[in-house]
Amino acid sequence: MLRAASSDAGRAYKQQLIDLLDIASGQTVLDAGCGPGTDLPALAERVGEQGTVIGVDRDPAMLERARERTNGLRVEIREGDVHALPVESGSVDRAKIDRVLMHVAHPAQALAELHRITRPGAAVGLVEPDWDTLVVDAEDLETSRAFTRYTTEEVVRHATIGRSLARLADKAGFQIRTVNTTTPVFRDFQDADHTLGLGRNLHQAITDGRIDRNRGHRWFTGLSEGPFYASFTLVTVVCSR
Ligand SMILES: C[S@@+](CC[C@H](N)C(=O)[O-])C[C@H]1O[C@@H](n2cnc3c(N)ncnc32)[C@H](O)[C@@H]1O
Repeated sequence: MLRAASSDAGRAYKQQLIDLLDIASGQTVLDAGCGPGTDLPALAERVGEQGTVIGVDRDPAMLERARERTNGLRVEIREGDVHALPVESGSVDRAKIDRVLMHVAHPAQALAELHRITRPGAAVGLVEPDWDTLVVDAEDLETSRAFTRYTTEEVVRHATIGRSLARLADKAGFQIRTVNTTTPVFRDFQDADHTLGLGRNLHQAITDGRIDRNRGHRWFTGLSEGPFYASFTLVTVVCSR
């Protein structure tokens, strides 16, 4: 999923989210689960010299990459968990969390934390995929469907959180402003294999007895011979505190 951020569709939804957050100079902005810091330079540019950007992630290796990426910028990198953000209550004007909630143990707790650390009137952006929307073109449609089912049921913790984002944000006390979708399209097999874990997850599904070995291998070989098409949908919710 990290490489998805560097594709054209990946760049487009990230730019759209930053625009929707309407970040002003001098504000404090949090990127919760900032990963390697892909979005931190753009956020730093928006808040300017008087503003502050905080990037939080629990993975030290990601934080190291985020530090390298933001060297010389007004960005604070903090190690921490989105279930208990290392951020003062009511101190943040804008916050975003992008493709993190699908992985965490308790998404509602992470949203409660975003509510705690934001000021009244703050804007918060949430982006998550809905893996039920993963479609892979193949002559063997049943195996494509079995692959998607296996991904949603066994691979990703909260695989269908995309469709629930607005409801969860509402429950956490936010007012929903906009709900949008983006559908990254993969035409390159190698790119999709790397980003969507086609080979890796197929292997796991075969081992778990969810896809027949010979049929799975034929499906995968067919995909690699192209032409290739796969897509999935990301949901973006912008809400206010
Ligand atoms: C798919 S990456 C997304 C990174 C970044 N938001 C982006 O859009 O490029 C997911 C990130 O969430 C982080 N993460 C997962 N669970 C977390 C948690 N409970 N607390 C903090 N970070 C977490 C991972 O370490 C990883 O960097």
